[in-house]
Amino acid sequence: MAPPPRHLLLLPVLLLLVSLLQRVQSGALRVLGPRDFDPKLYVDLPLAPGADRAAAEAAVAAVTTRGEMEAFLARYFARAGSDLVEADPPDFEAEPRGFLPRVASGEARAWALQVHALWKDLARRVAPSVAARPDRHTLLPLPGRVVVPGSRFREVYYWDSYWVVRGLLVSKMYDTAKDIVLNLVYLVEEYGFVLNGARSYYTNRSQPPLLSSMVLELYAATGDLGLVRRAFPSLLKEHSFWVSELHNVEIMDNHGRVHNLSRYQAMWNKPRPESATIDEELASKLNSTAAKEKLYHQIASAAESGWDFSSRWMSNSTDMTTLVTTFVIPVDLNTFICKMERDIAVFAELIGEKATAEIFSQASKARHTAIESLLWNSEMEQWLDYWLPTDGNCQGVYKWELKSQNRKIFASNFIPLWLNAHNSGLGPFLDEAKSVRVMRSLQTSGLVCPAGIATSVSNTGQQWDFPNGWAPLQHLIAEGLLNSGSTEAKEFAEDIATRWVRTNYAAYKSSGAMHEKYDVEACGKSGGGGEYKPQTGFGWSNGVLLAFLEELGWSQDKEIGCPS
Ligand SMILES: *[C@@H]1O[C@H](CO)[C@@H](O)[C@H](O)[C@H]1NC(C)=O
Ligand SMILES: *[C@@H]1O[C@H](CO)[C@@H](O)[C@H](O)[C@H]1NC(C)=O
Ligand SMILES: *[C@@H]1O[C@H](CO)[C@@H](O)[C@H](O)[C@H]1NC(C)=O
Ligand SMILES: *[C@@H]1O[C@H](CO)[C@@H](O)[C@H](O)[C@H]1NC(C)=O
Repeated sequence: MAPPPRHLLLLPVLLLLVSLLQRVQSGALRVLGPRDFDPKLYVDLPLAPGADRAAAEAAVAAVTTRGEMEAFLARYFARAGSDLVEADPPDFEAEPRGFLPRVASGEARAWALQVHALWKDLARRVAPSVAARPDRHTLLPLPGRVVVPGSRFREVYYWDSYWVVRGLLVSKMYDTAKDIVLNLVYLVEEYGFVLNGARSYYTNRSQPPLLSSMVLELYAATGDLGLVRRAFPSLLKEHSFWVSELHNVEIMDNHGRVHNLSRYQAMWNKPRPESATIDEELASKLNSTAAKEKLYHQIASAAESGWDFSSRWMSNSTDMTTLVTTFVIPVDLNTFICKMERDIAVFAELIGEKATAEIFSQASKARHTAIESLLWNSEMEQWLDYWLPTDGNCQGVYKWELKSQNRKIFASNFIPLWLNAHNSGLGPFLDEAKSVRVMRSLQTSGLVCPAGIATSVSNTGQQWDFPNGWAPLQHLIAEGLLNSGSTEAKEFAEDIATRWVRTNYAAYKSSGAMHEKYDVEACGKSGGGGEYKPQTGFGWSNGVLLAFLEELGWSQDKEIGCPS
């Protein structure tokens, strides 16, 4: 039998540091006050060379003033992020050969080259000290080079990496893209699934599963069959994680057929270490330990969904304590797993595993049928999240009811369009006529705004709600429409992508940065809301911008500034 992965065994030791850092975090909040306080900063601190964890543990309780806190931090800890070192990517060229051949406008091209150059700022390598002494860092060691999203997100994230890879492919940085994919494969080998991010405090949840899509895009760009072979066992392992009892729910349709679909569910019922002070404050509204643990479980599960936070997971959209994430069967998650099953079938075929190819092709078709039978709403002509009764335990077979579809409008209701996207070799999932009907329903949904597609139509102050627009959502929907076969849908996708490129450009010109999210109400506004300050950098926004420019081109006479 193979020895168990080293890091799973180490986890209890790694969590000792997390628990010390959480104590530092709450001490810092008490002493420094809430102004500009970012709890994540403290759980990212590595122990300083020579500093002793137990001594820091003993010293933290005695800290009562700002000066003492500063001295304590300087004595025991190194700077957050100092355990990731700069790494000039060797495959970076200032202007790669064949870069964006269809971008003719000089202004668009000059800017695209600046965004391309941001890969150099965001590329890192995990310092050798991390692998040598993993117990002194919350950062997890990774074998290859990494690209971080930027700002406070100073580590690798799972679903962000898909759009980072898409952008790197446009930038012809195939080796860096491959390193990123192999790092995620390594996480599956070590932990059994891809972690939310490469930190010891992210080991009990994942994020929207797009690893197979990264492998597929890289294979399509490079023909690297060795990569497919290398990733294949990890893709099978990741698939079993997403269809395991933890995530799977059985639902019987009106014809008596039982379908399987998946939901998000983190293995965690405590405050998220990176936001513990915020989670504890929220939970302080609840009386019992059991109620608090339930809330923490729902919060961590919302973080697993990537949509943290959103009225999508709340039974009362103005009250965060009503999060019910694990009782929601999400449209997008099942779309991603359906795509994963199809990708695995394609890979199995490529490497000659015919029987596995057949099993996964069938699984993908079954999930597609489940999505169409249980999540499709023929009156609204979009797919809707399905809400299970929150007093149950999600075991056994649920009987489907129309009234359990959540009729609220979210951008995720349109994500199955993405199944039209190319490179699978198995043909489109939706027929052209259906894609066009879904497009019309999107056009009248209220989501389509001057600067892109909004996340929802309700302004709750949560960052995955109106008026924020997120790069991945623009890209998934536009790419689905572009590949639907309909000229009208293609033109609409180009319109959305154009709005998005323009708002990115205007915000870049005024702020000098690419942003994590944008306010889609007007061209040139970056986004806000949520539990932390808006961030810049920014991995997935850069990736989507480059992918859009590649797909769309930009002619000489097309204005790139905001339309007047
Ligand atoms: C659904 O999942 C259950 C439990 O994993 C399994 O026994 C059953 O065969 C699956 N049903 C279908 C239709 O795939
Ligand atoms: C987190 O995951 C680890 C490893 O799978 C497990 O041993 C531990 O019990 C989990 N923690 C919680 C709080 O569920
Ligand atoms: C919590 O306790 C307070 C005071 O004892 C009580 O008024 C309130 O109804 C309780 N709330 C819940 C949700 O049980
Ligand atoms: C939703 O939550 C808000 C804020 O806690 C509360 O005022 C309101 O009554 C709640 N609405 C419902 C329908 O429970």
